Amino acid sequence: MTTDIRDIPEAHVDRALDLHYLVFHDSAGAATRKRQHELLRNCERVGAYDGEEIIGFTAAHRLGLSVPGGELPAAELDFVSVAPTHRRRGVLTAMLGELWRRCAADRRPLACLWASEDAIYGRFGFGPATEAYSVEIDSSRPLDLRITPDRRPLRLLGPEDAVPVIAPLYEASRARRGGRLARDEAWWRRSVLAQDDDDDDDDGPARIVVLGDRGAPAAGYVVYRVGEKGIVTVQELEAADAPAAAALWNYLASIDLTRKVRAWAVAADDPLLLFAADRDQVRVTGQWPALWLRLVDVAEALTARSWAAPVDLVLEVRDATLPANAGRFRLTADPSGATYEPADAPADLALDVRELAACYLGGTPLRRLVRAGLVEERTPGAARLLDAALETEYLPFTGEDY
Ligand SMILES: CC(C)(COP(=O)(O)OP(=O)(O)OC[C@H]1O[C@@H](n2cnc3c(N)ncnc32)[C@H](O)[C@@H]1OP(=O)(O)O)[C@@H](O)C(=O)NCCC(=O)NCCS
Repeated sequence: MTTDIRDIPEAHVDRALDLHYLVFHDSAGAATRKRQHELLRNCERVGAYDGEEIIGFTAAHRLGLSVPGGELPAAELDFVSVAPTHRRRGVLTAMLGELWRRCAADRRPLACLWASEDAIYGRFGFGPATEAYSVEIDSSRPLDLRITPDRRPLRLLGPEDAVPVIAPLYEASRARRGGRLARDEAWWRRSVLAQDDDDDDDDGPARIVVLGDRGAPAAGYVVYRVGEKGIVTVQELEAADAPAAAALWNYLASIDLTRKVRAWAVAADDPLLLFAADRDQVRVTGQWPALWLRLVDVAEALTARSWAAPVDLVLEVRDATLPANAGRFRLTADPSGATYEPADAPADLALDVRELAACYLGGTPLRRLVRAGLVEERTPGAARLLDAALETEYLPFTGEDY
């Protein structure tokens, strides 16, 4: 088979979407198709063609990803699809190869994605870098909390008025946590506040509630939908502090004609899990790797993030896909910055690039990976030193399955 890897022009986007729905055994309503078409207009679109037939497709958003101390340009992969007639012949590998070349050409040191199956992406150097919990609240009785909720007023906003009010809270969260995507106005409207989601079976439109006095900066917001079965589905909740979060969870649990609140993704260090008085009422129902991260340019990624403590170690990095990352490098970092240079000295730690990605945002302690036999600690104590330097005040989190 000869596969030709090339750009998917705008005129082929509908065919690429058809392939996507085919491989995901899915069908999209008119509103979803229109939204995805618009989304793809702003994406990099890589196609694999067998003659004139599109047999492979992937897209990459070009959004900044928050990392400790700032944000970096990233390729957020989406729509990864290979025709069932052409699977396991290297089509995905070829499309990713094209993306790595493009990332190198325009200096995007990171790539990331949500994986449909965890088994796919490790071999390409991706590691699970953020973790999400699903939470369910039994709201057939009042929510029992150990702290006093913020007493400021709550108000509903329409999607047309919401963005300027709630975006600053999202930005504050991006500044605290790695793993969060930059959003522009169109992204907010299309991906977060969409009113016409024909994918979501019986869920109603997105409702937006903010906490705070009119005219003052909001102290928190929640975006949620209510389904016919009386289930409140939380898409996103951001709060400036714990009392503000408590007020919003309290609100969600008190909506008439509902009996359950479900949040499909909250951060592993979300305060709800601590200030809930009754963990039989607030239960974690799922826990999974959310964002899979690839350090496309390890040197650029490591020297661009902030460091919590001094460290001076030699790392031996394996990278089967991108050889420029492989070899021995001395990482010298402290809170004022970092260098990462080729080294001849013996390595203190030996690891695959996927393990480095898992630790990069501060979500996975390296020592755990040493104990799991995935990272070799050649100098005793080296993993503890690197963990102290990688540590972040808040855990990284990715709350949207883009
Ligand atoms: C997953 C998918 C994109 C893989 O595409 P593909 O062209 O078959 O992948 P490749 O042939 O390049 O495979 C490269 C390697 O990954 C392995 N691999 C691919 N998909 C895998 C999977 N789902 N589970 C485990 N291993 C997988 C292959 O066996 C191959 O291994 P090898 O190098 O040891 O031979 C394709 O099967 C697909 O479109 N599936 C349905 C949609 C989907 O799940 N998309 C991913 C969305 S995140």
